[in-house]
Amino acid sequence: MCGIVGYVGFRNVADLLLEGLHRLEYRGYDSAGIAVLTEQGIEVRKRAGRVAELGGLIAAQPLIGHVGIGHTRWATHGEPNDINSHPHFGGNQQVAIVHNGVIENFDSLRKQLQQLGYVFRSQTDTEVAAHLIAHHLDEQIKLGGSADDLTTCLKAVNATLDRLKGTYGLGILFTELPETIIAARSGSPLVIGVGRDEYFLASDASPLIGYTKEVVYLSDHEVAVLRADGLQIEHRHTGNIRPSIQTLQQVSADIELGDYEHYMLKEIYEQPQTVENALRGRLDMEEATAVIGGLNLTPKELRKIDRIVLTACGTSWHSGLVGEHLLEEFARLPTEVEYASELRYRNPPISDRTLIFAITQSGETADTLAAMKECKRKGHPTLAICNVVGSTIAREADGGIYLHAGPEIGVASTKAFTSQVTVLTLLSLYFGRMRHMSFPAGRRIIRQLRDMPEKIQKTLECHDKVREVADRYYHFNNFLYLGRLHNFPVALEGALKLKEISYIHAEGYPAAEMKHGPIALVDQQTPSVFVIPRGGIYPKVMSNMEEIKARKGPVIAIACEGDRDVARVADEVIYVPDVEDYLQPLVCAIPLQLLAYHVALLRGCNVDRPRNLAKSVTVE
Ligand code: F6R
Repeated sequence: MCGIVGYVGFRNVADLLLEGLHRLEYRGYDSAGIAVLTEQGIEVRKRAGRVAELGGLIAAQPLIGHVGIGHTRWATHGEPNDINSHPHFGGNQQVAIVHNGVIENFDSLRKQLQQLGYVFRSQTDTEVAAHLIAHHLDEQIKLGGSADDLTTCLKAVNATLDRLKGTYGLGILFTELPETIIAARSGSPLVIGVGRDEYFLASDASPLIGYTKEVVYLSDHEVAVLRADGLQIEHRHTGNIRPSIQTLQQVSADIELGDYEHYMLKEIYEQPQTVENALRGRLDMEEATAVIGGLNLTPKELRKIDRIVLTACGTSWHSGLVGEHLLEEFARLPTEVEYASELRYRNPPISDRTLIFAITQSGETADTLAAMKECKRKGHPTLAICNVVGSTIAREADGGIYLHAGPEIGVASTKAFTSQVTVLTLLSLYFGRMRHMSFPAGRRIIRQLRDMPEKIQKTLECHDKVREVADRYYHFNNFLYLGRLHNFPVALEGALKLKEISYIHAEGYPAAEMKHGPIALVDQQTPSVFVIPRGGIYPKVMSNMEEIKARKGPVIAIACEGDRDVARVADEVIYVPDVEDYLQPLVCAIPLQLLAYHVALLRGCNVDRPRNLAKSVTVE
């Protein structure tokens, strides 16, 4: 969703902001803009559409300066157009701001400001904050302050923040305040990059990569002052704090496309490596268990746990469903998987012995964060399985496990899914070995896990076949995805991938459940994608497949290498390596990712930036 970038230092700020906005494009947006402090005051360039179009505008009307803020907007209040794009001016252009989040009381504030004579140009909630800062600046000046004085400007910002309800990450420029950005956060992430005689501001670390490795994650209720000669951070209630500088792990190659045409394809191909990263240092052959360091609970506390709740959204919810099978199978721990958007408003009974895990790639999903906070508020230990280091959920959690998958830039989640499943497998092994699982069983799982990066590499060999299948089926408008047990979540995930990037209607179902309704959809125009590797209930899934074929439904099967029986029934077979049942989601998800990718390409869709979607969904 919306993205923020800011800079104060010695570089040409317009170029730097534009590059930062390009790097934020993956989050999803519909307009973009920048504000630069120039000799003429604050000058703004903004435009609906892509960052490249904004680049054209800036090339035609250049901005010269060394201090500025930029924004990619994903419309919430008011349609995507030039006027509603950020930055927004406040008052008589004394101030310009960029804002992520939602100001919930914007309507009443707008009425109050209109009564005071402020004229609103946009339909956004953000413009309210801009005028409010200008208003409080005027008030401070009446009390003897000065527009070029930092203390006066900070008082105006703090007086404004006192009146805002909702969430915000703000970047603020004052016309009269030289060489300064003020930033403030409540519920919407901001990270500050520390350079030599320069500071960067951003809503996530991607614009900073390659410029600095030193970062400070702003916490809620903190206000930062960025000047070329220093950084000052104060907590709004407790006063000045010493910034805690952390090291950014990402390198430029992580966010570059390299030889790939799209980030989604690059990320699909990274999976042998990302699964290896998720396993690295976490397999203990001696003890036949997993090494899970960050749970921040003692073995004694962990042994007392008698139930697990996994909460997440979208793809992360699907990996949670795989996790449910694994935790129940390996550790015999009753596990429930809750949509975070539902859990946040439900009030299910949760005992002292329940452990809650929020699963999230971005660590910023508003619903997941809210569900987690609700559980924490009730006093339950709440942990995170998260990819983005320093993200809000990672910081709010009582502990957790990082995926170490590197930045996921394609909007459709791919490598995060397989990394989450890997981490959930490790977690199940860990809990299993604390409970019922034998030493030999633990060792066997470790050996099988070790082989997975290679098996995933081998799985990618199905790419040519998937391309062929996509070529034959891309024009169909309805798909069913069917799988059972561990592979039912894979079917859901395959259907979600197809929907989100190719805009084709697709439904995931447990294969046998199909008889109870969806079979009515089956005809020659409705292909069914079966996830049918060998294992436990393979013959049952075969029967389900026959049922579809009997009704003339085209069948695409994901099956184990060498499976001739499936080939006799299905119209198309995409082969994956034969692995244990519990590891099948790690290989079966990959052809489905590739299928969605190629179908979307053939339909002319923008695979990395599908319509209406955002990479991290930071609004409810
Ligand atoms: C699907 C997708 C979304 C996310 C969901 C949760 O490809 O990307 O469904 O999985 O928005 O996001 P995170 O995992 O960042 O909490």
